[in-house]
Amino acid sequence: MASRGNFNSRLGFILASAGSAVGLGNIWKFPFEVGAGGGAAFLLIYLCFALLLCFPVMTAEIAIGRRTNSSPVGAFRKLGFPKWSGVGYLGLASGVLILSFYNVVAAWSFGYFFEMVRGNFSIGANFSDYTADLIKISIYGVLFMSATAFIVSRGVSQGIERAAKIMMPSLIILILGLIIYSLTLPDALAGIKYYLLPDFSKLTGSVVYSALGQAFFSLSLGMGALITFGSYLKKDTNIVSSAAIITVSDVSIAFLAGLMMFPIVAYLTQGDLQAISQISGEESFIFQTMPAVFESLGSTLGVIIGGLFFLLLSFAALTSTISLLEVPTAFLVDEKKIQRSKATWLVALVVFLVGIPSMLGAGSSSFFADFIRLPGMENSMSFMAVVGLVGGSTFLSLGGFLISIFTAYVWKKRNFNEEIYYENEGRLGRLLRLYVDFAIGVICPIVLGILCLVTILNNYFGISW
Ligand code: PFF
Repeated sequence: MASRGNFNSRLGFILASAGSAVGLGNIWKFPFEVGAGGGAAFLLIYLCFALLLCFPVMTAEIAIGRRTNSSPVGAFRKLGFPKWSGVGYLGLASGVLILSFYNVVAAWSFGYFFEMVRGNFSIGANFSDYTADLIKISIYGVLFMSATAFIVSRGVSQGIERAAKIMMPSLIILILGLIIYSLTLPDALAGIKYYLLPDFSKLTGSVVYSALGQAFFSLSLGMGALITFGSYLKKDTNIVSSAAIITVSDVSIAFLAGLMMFPIVAYLTQGDLQAISQISGEESFIFQTMPAVFESLGSTLGVIIGGLFFLLLSFAALTSTISLLEVPTAFLVDEKKIQRSKATWLVALVVFLVGIPSMLGAGSSSFFADFIRLPGMENSMSFMAVVGLVGGSTFLSLGGFLISIFTAYVWKKRNFNEEIYYENEGRLGRLLRLYVDFAIGVICPIVLGILCLVTILNNYFGISW
């Protein structure tokens, strides 16, 4: 049998996994969730969830993948529990659904890069015309999906690892450069204050709920992306410390994205804290408001800073779409014995087609824009929002809950521990491993079970607390 491929180095694995984690979730969604959730108060809760809850789940996913050298569906079977393959199929469905709408937002961002370079700053005010321009968005969407498929089709070390080694350092340089620049803007300090001084009065149950969902989505957990990446990992790699590094990298980049955005918002609102909270809490903030900010910097600087900003967003999205596409691709390669490049392009085509209603719902079709009104919701949801709710929030939390239960009580902790034990783990490593061992059977299933239950009851049945 042809080799499935491997990561050549631990660094490559860490960069690719951190690349999967760092995405639109960090740069597009995180700052506005912080904006809506009381600045640093949200940040603190987010941090706790990432470290205490997501890190153990990530360790479990990587361990399952590495033990079995198999993508999620086959992994559960290889461990001797074929019925649990359902969790793998759930992950597959989730990957296809998430990628279908994620590619549309990635296409908008990618298109914005060209618009900024052309100096078309009025695009922010015309955002809805832009997203309704089907031809344009389809072209950007096809280009973005093709870039993803091209990288994935080249295999693990030549494609995914190589791309991560180029894109992740570039992303960090871009973000640091933009932070330095945004800190020099007038009123930057007010933005930093809003961001870093917690306002606990804003911490409601729903803010805690969003922080949890956001942390889980941001770390790419619950759909087996890390089972798949773990399956290409060499046996002598320390899983616990790798998962810790990936978690900390993701949280750090989300934190840096806030440092970059809040001074810009403060500049725009001339330091008015009330306005900062309002504007940064808008979901469409990046697309609607940012271009005007870039315009105010003057034509040359605006083109440079605006272009770099949307390039950063596109890079972040691309390292994530790669991992989203890899999950169904690896399934076809492992289980259906389809050649990798064929499998990749086939999945890319199917996912693109699944994404068309999401694309249409963003302006050109009122049917897909007001697709459905679920019980308990005031307004109807767009097709894209429904796909995000089902494939993102619901399936991921359910998948994460099941993966924790599986690891602790079905596969059993003894086997899990054997896989994550590392000879020279050191004192901190041992402590982390013991924590993971405890959390995966207690904290993770309880909290993720609640997350999943609240998501279902609240959204599908309109029952809220
Ligand atoms: N973590 C990505 C983000 O924050 O944008 C999204 C994502 C990628 C979710 C890969 C799930 C996944 F498997």
